[in-house]
Amino acid sequence: MPALRTITTAAAIHAETSAQRAAGRSIGLVPTMGALHEGHLSLVRRARAECDAVVATIFVNPTQFGPSEDFSRYPRTLEKDLELLAELGCDLVFAPAQDEIYPPGFSTYVEPPAVAALLEGKHRPGHFRGVGTVVLKLFNLISADVAYFGQKDYQQSLVIQHMVRDLNLPIQITICPILRESDGLALSSRNRYLSPTERQQALALSRSLRQAEELVRSGLREARAIAAALRNELAAAGIQRIDYATVADAQTLAELNTLDRPAVALVACHVGTTRLIDNCLLPLP
Ligand code: PAJ
Repeated sequence: MPALRTITTAAAIHAETSAQRAAGRSIGLVPTMGALHEGHLSLVRRARAECDAVVATIFVNPTQFGPSEDFSRYPRTLEKDLELLAELGCDLVFAPAQDEIYPPGFSTYVEPPAVAALLEGKHRPGHFRGVGTVVLKLFNLISADVAYFGQKDYQQSLVIQHMVRDLNLPIQITICPILRESDGLALSSRNRYLSPTERQQALALSRSLRQAEELVRSGLREARAIAAALRNELAAAGIQRIDYATVADAQTLAELNTLDRPAVALVACHVGTTRLIDNCLLPLP
């Protein structure tokens, strides 16, 4: 098996992936910010199973972090990440320095789609502008056939799908299921910030979503009542700062009154100083 190659310049990743495509190989792209866990690796495995060549990117993207967010302390574990990717048979890693992506004078950004204005967009102004910009740049540098994203970042996956549709980007987007610890906690690079007590508290996110699912299965159709149950479960665990806990249209994220169409329950809250998100698609009546 050819070894994993790490590329750090925009010119080299473009040349390499263009050559592979010209040779008729299909390319699967997995964009990440590193600090890889099984959730990320599930995307790489899926790409490995479906494409001839797999390219992962590792770049902690400064433009998607707010001024008071965790950009500077975001975990960076490049050596370990490269080992994990090599084990999975990933072919190429693009791990650029910051000024390779944002050279001096950089000033053009993506105006994200309407769905970016809600939920995360309200609590993290500018976040999706940064995500849209870096993802479009990666799509331009790496002419992949398919790009893989996780449902863990549900709104992000909609933002990217809508951007691809609206800007006619020639790439297919595949959304992969959320990987969880055996006790339900969704895997996240930020889980390592949690103290043992906070880790226990954090279980309330997935618990609240499972409960919402149960309520729907047992016949409840009133979205506000389900959202109230989400909030109660979080509050009962001692979580005080809830950014949102809501039931929304699965495509537009508009808040729902009645569960009369595909819907998603989404939660975002602060556990200690760590901000966590989780979500779950609700079973259709
Ligand atoms: P990051 O948080 O590193 O996540 C990279 C990809 O892994 C995303 O598509 C995310 O949804 C997916 N992922 C994270 N946790 C997951 C889990 N538990 N199960 C399944 N998939 C999971 O998302 C980003 O980076 C950035 O915003 C990025 C798209 C790379 C742009 O900078």
